Amino acid sequence: MSSISIGEEKDFEIGKGYTFNLYGEDILVYRGQKSFFAIQNECSHAKFPLEDGILNEEKCSITCIHHGAKFDLESGKVLSLPALKGIKIYKIYIVNNEVYVDVI
Ligand code: FES
Repeated sequence: MSSISIGEEKDFEIGKGYTFNLYGEDILVYRGQKSFFAIQNECSHAKFPLEDGILNEEKCSITCIHHGAKFDLESGKVLSLPALKGIKIYKIYIVNNEVYVDVI
């Protein structure tokens, strides 16, 4: 497991998605009102990117705009069809205002 710094906390706008390719993994990072989320940037349904998805921080979910699959941002589990398989999530945390993601 490698922890990678992806920038300072202040570099991330609330409610906006940022994409990173870390060790060959496409990762989507969102800064919500209260926390950061880091998820696989690929919907498990038809492999479209999730970066245009609709974030609902209150319900801790992201909805893919392509066919409407919904995923839990903390567990990666499917909350709504047509996806049948969850997505990968990554641990994300802040140390001294620096944002880190754990990537295998
Ligand atoms: S590609 Fe996301 S719901 Fe189909």
